[in-house]
Amino acid sequence: MKVRKAVITAAGWGTRFLPITKAHPKEMLPLVTKPLIQYSVEEAINSGIEQIVVITAQGKRAIEDYFDRSFELEHFLEQKGETNLLKEMRELSSLADICYIRQKEQLGLGHAILTAKGIVGKEPFAVLLPDDIIDSKVPVLKQMIEVYEQYKTSVVAVERIASQDTVKYGIIEPKKVSGHIYQVLSLIEKPKPAQAPSNLGVVGKYILTPQIFDALEVTPPGKNQEIQLTDALQLLLKQQTIYAYEFEGVRYDTGTPLGWLKATLAFALRHPDIGQELKEYLHQLI
Ligand code: G1P
Repeated sequence: MKVRKAVITAAGWGTRFLPITKAHPKEMLPLVTKPLIQYSVEEAINSGIEQIVVITAQGKRAIEDYFDRSFELEHFLEQKGETNLLKEMRELSSLADICYIRQKEQLGLGHAILTAKGIVGKEPFAVLLPDDIIDSKVPVLKQMIEVYEQYKTSVVAVERIASQDTVKYGIIEPKKVSGHIYQVLSLIEKPKPAQAPSNLGVVGKYILTPQIFDALEVTPPGKNQEIQLTDALQLLLKQQTIYAYEFEGVRYDTGTPLGWLKATLAFALRHPDIGQELKEYLHQLI
């Protein structure tokens, strides 16, 4: 069955970005001219996804407004003769078929994904965490869908991480299958380096089969008292093989101020309107 739906989780508090995230969704922080979440939406569309489910929460209305039409704004731009901007705004609101679910309690990533059970139904689906932005020729989700089509089972994206960083990721115990593909023998959420089975960390892109919902329903709270997707995947391993895909591309963790700044600089330096001037300014500054 084709992967047609993607779940984008945008319900977290964004505590690493407080105080700004007290009143502004983290997913709406800009990466040059577009908000972070738009990169995930575009990645999904460019990978052949037809419907996007965004999991939001209290204080996240700006995300819905952003992808919605604004007739008042369009009228204003029309009056002003701003035809290019008008076109851009209309394109933005017809970018994707998006529906929204509100996670009423912050019980963890696994719980957030479980809220999408009814809309996803009994088909394979993608999960994208908008913090993880990967610069690649072919969208990483598209690369993963190809792996899914080969094996017809769940696939998680992994990257080699520094050994002191295992506490920040789900870590897999791998068995190499071929070039970029591993069979996942076990997974553990944010272990200390000494307990980590490898330095292959899961990054925020997954293709999941619908059986994950049954696993999530019986997954008890784990790390930080939250229902962890990693723990549900570990349960799922009892019934199905899971593969890990070491993607091609450069990843930015925009969930931290430093990672966000690095991504901002990297993307801005390539921007046709501002790249050159920014480069000169950075030279001056250093
Ligand atoms: C989540 C997952 C973790 C994964 C990470 C990737 O953690 O729980 O397994 O490695 O995303 O970004 P978070 O970064 O939300 O704490």
